[in-house]
Amino acid sequence: MNRQHVITTAQFFDRAVLERLFRLASEMERQVKAHRVERRLQGYVMAALFYEPSTRTRFSFEAAMHRLGGSVISSEAAGQFSSALKGESLEDSIRVTGGYADLIVLRHPEVGSAERAAAVSSVPIINAGDGGGEHPTQALLDVFTIQQELGRIDGLKLALVGDLRHSRSMHSLLFLLGLYDIELLLVAPKQLQLTETYRRYLKANKVRYSCAESLEALDKSLDIVYMNRIQKERFDDPGEYERLKDYLTFRLKNLDQLKPAARVMDPLPRVGKIDLAVDQDPRAAYFRQAQNGLYLRMALLAEILPA
Ligand code: NCD
Repeated sequence: MNRQHVITTAQFFDRAVLERLFRLASEMERQVKAHRVERRLQGYVMAALFYEPSTRTRFSFEAAMHRLGGSVISSEAAGQFSSALKGESLEDSIRVTGGYADLIVLRHPEVGSAERAAAVSSVPIINAGDGGGEHPTQALLDVFTIQQELGRIDGLKLALVGDLRHSRSMHSLLFLLGLYDIELLLVAPKQLQLTETYRRYLKANKVRYSCAESLEALDKSLDIVYMNRIQKERFDDPGEYERLKDYLTFRLKNLDQLKPAARVMDPLPRVGKIDLAVDQDPRAAYFRQAQNGLYLRMALLAEILPA
């Protein structure tokens, strides 16, 4: 992955690349836990350019870079605190930032923004979320988490639950899951079901899937239930968000529908979509998943920036 951009998970068509990345992420986990992280990115600078809010993605990228011995420059509300407010284009901000940093992690509200940035950038761009488009590093850490939790991905059945229309995490996850022999249950209110583009991808990759509209469809055949909140910021009509926002909430009774070895995941924030009582159950994997973001992003930075 030497100096490559990471824009979409569709660029990962080789399972060997993922396996290598996951092995390195496990090695990073081992090193972090032993407080013996090799400072292999000393002398490198990472820019975090965030035009949309973030907790996990920005902090875990920044922590990853710091732990590997590199440095970070960061704009956490780039729309307000960078020259974007004066009217500078994304392209110009990228051209200039690329002169100061060796890699740019970009989050931006417009679909396609990461691709636009990559087209003019002299340094690798990592897409940390382009509007309702994609969030490839989230999906990488999600698949890494499934591998860590259940030891395999082939043969699993997953329920993807929530705002399948707007969730960039779901979109990126679908492209990766298409590389494996899996089965999907897509749970969403009709208006928020997966769009045709992604359904076509599933069909082209012979991924078996069925659709449902409520959590009653969850059952003991499932290995993973992957939740994601209704994406408020992607609705043109706030009234429609209000009508749909409480449609799917995962509660203790939903855990009873699952087998003991299943896992519940969520890229977070949960914003009410998973009842707090669920946290106590060992099947709740979402905080471990967030923790894995650090290890996976360390591995990714180390793969992209040559030692
Ligand atoms: C996701 C995002 O920003 O797309 N959050 C994250 O990076 N963990 C998911 C979400 O906000 O729902």
